[in-house]
Amino acid sequence: MSMIERISGLLQEVEAFSASSKEQLEEYRIKWLSKKGEISVLFDDFKTVPGELKKEVGQKLNHLKTKAQDKINELKERFESRNEDTKGTLDLSLPGMPTLQNGTRHPLTLVKNEIIDIFARIGFTISDGNEIEDDWHNFSALNTPENHPARDMQDTFYVSLNPEMVLRTQTSSVQVHIMQSKKPPIRTISPGRVYRNEAISARAHCQFHQVEGLYIDEKVSFADLKQTLLYFAKEMFGTDTKIRLRPSYFPFTEPSAEMDISCTICKGSGCNVCKYTGWVEILGCGMVDPQVLINCGIDEKKYKGFAFGMGIERITMLKYQVKDLRLYFENDIRFLKQFTSA
Ligand code: DAH
Repeated sequence: MSMIERISGLLQEVEAFSASSKEQLEEYRIKWLSKKGEISVLFDDFKTVPGELKKEVGQKLNHLKTKAQDKINELKERFESRNEDTKGTLDLSLPGMPTLQNGTRHPLTLVKNEIIDIFARIGFTISDGNEIEDDWHNFSALNTPENHPARDMQDTFYVSLNPEMVLRTQTSSVQVHIMQSKKPPIRTISPGRVYRNEAISARAHCQFHQVEGLYIDEKVSFADLKQTLLYFAKEMFGTDTKIRLRPSYFPFTEPSAEMDISCTICKGSGCNVCKYTGWVEILGCGMVDPQVLINCGIDEKKYKGFAFGMGIERITMLKYQVKDLRLYFENDIRFLKQFTSA
């Protein structure tokens, strides 16, 4: 092969070359341009070229050397700038980018869990009930037979296919199931959703949440009820919280009471939450009516009990000052994001 052919063969190789890595580039630099590289060898062989061809071959050889040099430099630069670009942004030791934002617990869930924790500390277990309930568990067993005026206190959704079935209007229905299926001593709370046929407004909703409490044993007194509720109020709203019990009426308790706490907002000095009385009502309670014990198959001569029921929305309103009930059910992310769970 003549010098000219060798030079143009190598030139084609140089022009077509593209390195896929820095290492490959270095390999070709050595192959072409090092002291023993192909181009250097050509320069050595140049001595043997006859005088009349020296000019042409010399020019082609120089051209090849420049081309090879340029190619190597150009590719080298490309690799280096690529490294520069990625140096600042690519850190393989960084943890992965989260694609989903962490959510927060719903304020009603936060408060429900707090209530559960408080009662669990004094030995109350948790019981669950059904949201679709029969009339007997929701009303009759709780001393509220059909046509009893107390049914008017709670506007009821009936399940249309079966008029015997209702959406429970109160978690008191869970009491009945527990007393029917367990032997005293019973000490339990039942959180859950309840339904009432009410027009939706800032102060009323057709669905809300309650926590029911039930304690049945041989010597349970009204003093035990008061002490339990005082403990709850102090744990929930702070140790300086006071309680007061006002006589009231519920069909399933006798005597019955409603409990107020000293206003958490104004500390008793008067504000629009407590309507300037210094007190806010948070729950209903009383001693379980002996007839309810009989209805549920518990020996009313041997056992006594107390019960209480509170609305979770109301407790949440006092804790977080959310006054419009509708906000709890709209799931507006801007509202929910304000509550961070511990
Ligand atoms: N169930 C009642 C209501 O929804 C609340 C209640 C009052 C529950 C007194 C009780 C109780 O267990 O003893 O208004």
